[in-house]
Amino acid sequence: MILLTGADGYLGWPTFLKLSKTFPDEQIIGVDNLARRRWVEQIGSVSAIPIEEIDGRMQAANEQGFTNLHFIKGDLTDIDFVYQLLKQFKPTTIVHLASQPSAPYSHINGRTAAFTQENNNGMMRNILWGMHELGLEDRHLIVTTTTGVYGAPEFKIPEGFLTVEGKKGKEKIPYPAMATSWYHMSRANDINNLFLAHYMWKIPITDIRTSIIFGSQTEETKRSEKLATRFDFDFYFGVVPNRFCAQALSNYPITIYGKGEQKKPMITLEDAATSVVNAVNMNKAKEYEVFNQAALLVSPKDLGEAVQKAGREAGIDVQLTHIKNPRVEKEDHQMEMDNRGFIERLLKKEPQVLESSIRQTMTDLLPYRDTISRYQTALLGQ
Ligand SMILES: NC(=O)c1ccc[n+]([C@@H]2O[C@H](COP(=O)([O-])OP(=O)(O)OC[C@H]3O[C@@H](n4cnc5c(N)ncnc54)[C@H](O)[C@@H]3O)[C@@H](O)[C@H]2O)c1
Repeated sequence: MILLTGADGYLGWPTFLKLSKTFPDEQIIGVDNLARRRWVEQIGSVSAIPIEEIDGRMQAANEQGFTNLHFIKGDLTDIDFVYQLLKQFKPTTIVHLASQPSAPYSHINGRTAAFTQENNNGMMRNILWGMHELGLEDRHLIVTTTTGVYGAPEFKIPEGFLTVEGKKGKEKIPYPAMATSWYHMSRANDINNLFLAHYMWKIPITDIRTSIIFGSQTEETKRSEKLATRFDFDFYFGVVPNRFCAQALSNYPITIYGKGEQKKPMITLEDAATSVVNAVNMNKAKEYEVFNQAALLVSPKDLGEAVQKAGREAGIDVQLTHIKNPRVEKEDHQMEMDNRGFIERLLKKEPQVLESSIRQTMTDLLPYRDTISRYQTALLGQ
């Protein structure tokens, strides 16, 4: 029995389907409170690619042969709900993808900042304490946190730990806390609690530090329109690569802040879901392991050019403009990140590349140009 949280989300839904395909003899329990749908509606936007209501999704999955999936609606900040879930299903593996994952949303005001941290940290604590109190400390816990906890340091980012040398010897210390948003700091807090729970109760934990995920489909979601995952393009919930594609399709120039040369870690949706599923199969021992789930280092300029090229191929003239950088950031910061463990042990294949993935995304979005244009104010965050 595998328990997947956040099963209705952008990454969660494709992961749910991929788990079903990879483990046909297991029962997969997906949990979600459908909050992401409400948040996007609240800020005045919509998924560009239409998605089914959860019942329609589950029915379509069943019709397509994903017959070992079960969905339960519930709020994981409710400790009684979490304990009930764990008690009833006693999962062998828990894959925790649920979160409020938007930094801009967490910055709207004090309430959304508080909500983000209470939601994310509450869920994580309930799962950890539930595993402890219900005797499930030997089960494998897989969590997607974020590479955003690292900040943008002037050294090569390690996979989770820094080695500090003193006179008497050296110590490996967890490296989670240079986050620069209230959302990212909520995940740094989660990482601290994961570390503590492993220290106290020896729960085997795979902490997947997820980078920016982009793209519109996976092998499984493309089997039917009714299996599509959400595709957000608004200022709050759309990640930069997905927003650039939407911007190009609604004939709005792509704006690059400053020189746009600062590289950020990214990964396609297909590779992100595949590597989470591979983590379930991994020999876990009794460890707390960290993987940097990053496959590509991409600058806004690279991204803009890839979108422009894909647009030209589709007969769309995409304009790139540079504006003065409104953010406080090192514009030419060349991030370096160790991802060897991730590539060798979780992804286990060549990562998908930027250009073809952007081309695929633009092709998938093309039928929904009108929707994007209708919600242009959401796209621009006005
Ligand atoms: N998408 C990215 O670029 C990205 C980057 C870094 C990290 N991540 C991490 O990957 C994971 C998945 O992200 P995503 O983009 O699919 O986000 P998402 O918002 O689409 O999915 C998260 C799901 O969790 C659910 N959820 C939130 N709070 C809940 C609660 N209290 N109870 C039950 N369900 C709840 C939401 O309804 C949503 O469906 C998250 O942990 C996120 O922090 C994502």
